[in-house]
Amino acid sequence: MNYEKMNIQWFPGHMTKAQRMIEDNIKQVDAVCEILDARIPRSSRNPDIDRLAGDKPRLVILNRCDLADPKATAAWRRKLEQQGLAVLETDAKSGKGVKEFAPAVRRLLADKLAEYEAKGQVGRPLRVMILGIPNVGKSTFINKVAGRKAAIAGDKPGVTRGKQWINIDKGLDLLDTPGILWPKFESQQVGEMLAITNAIKADVLDKETLGANFMLRLREHYPEAIRERYKFEPEAEANGFELLEEAAKKRGFLVSRGEYDIERMANTLLGEYHDGKLGKLTLEYPNE
Ligand code: G4P
Repeated sequence: MNYEKMNIQWFPGHMTKAQRMIEDNIKQVDAVCEILDARIPRSSRNPDIDRLAGDKPRLVILNRCDLADPKATAAWRRKLEQQGLAVLETDAKSGKGVKEFAPAVRRLLADKLAEYEAKGQVGRPLRVMILGIPNVGKSTFINKVAGRKAAIAGDKPGVTRGKQWINIDKGLDLLDTPGILWPKFESQQVGEMLAITNAIKADVLDKETLGANFMLRLREHYPEAIRERYKFEPEAEANGFELLEEAAKKRGFLVSRGEYDIERMANTLLGEYHDGKLGKLTLEYPNE
């Protein structure tokens, strides 16, 4: 697939900050819980997590399952479990899957609990570090686990907060970490995935190119989404801009005689994906 090239601005400082924060706090926790966007489990992972987490038991949350392709989510679950990670699928917005969290942590840390019990420390809370890129749903998830408004949620990519401990009644203490961006950004694809899923502001990228490449991805993996939503057959030879133009035509996004508004179409496409109107679509697969 010939994706269009894009210039992506990136901020290496965030990555260093994220690493330092994890390194400074890892000794205080019993386990590390990484929240990933189920639509982009590769791009939403911290590439250094294996090194940073050391030998701490780990749980991966595949969040936004409501927006992801269930088959792909199941495949990701298998792959992550093969790597020795405990995996949960959640939709933090509705709360689906969230009640499994506390039991999953207790299973993961059964040895630790037995150790506490042997020392007579019954009731000592298990401490879990919660990690995740901005906007992946950390606050929403924590609020649902806590059953109250413990963390501030909002759709503001790049907004950072300080770290905070949150006590959950179920014998758990969660260490909420600030929303920090960390993916290694040498890859254009990671940048695109983060922009499409709102982890970074799409404004730092060229929207039209982002939309064009997204169309190419749709044609490759979910052509039925183009057919059903935009009412045309995506031609195999067309480039991403041509696909956007075709969709703009069908929508009647005319700028002048015979000229269609590709930028508006790109915005519409990304907005509709965000709102789940294209169906449950995953953008990365375990065997790529
Ligand atoms: P953060 O702390 O990791 O930065 O993320 P936060 O919880 O603030 O969530 C960011 C947005 O994602 C919120 O949307 C939240 O409702 C939504 N969200 C979180 N988890 C899920 C999920 O599992 N499924 C879906 N569909 N959405 C989820 P928002 O700012 O209220 O607006 P909007 O993005 O819903 O329009």
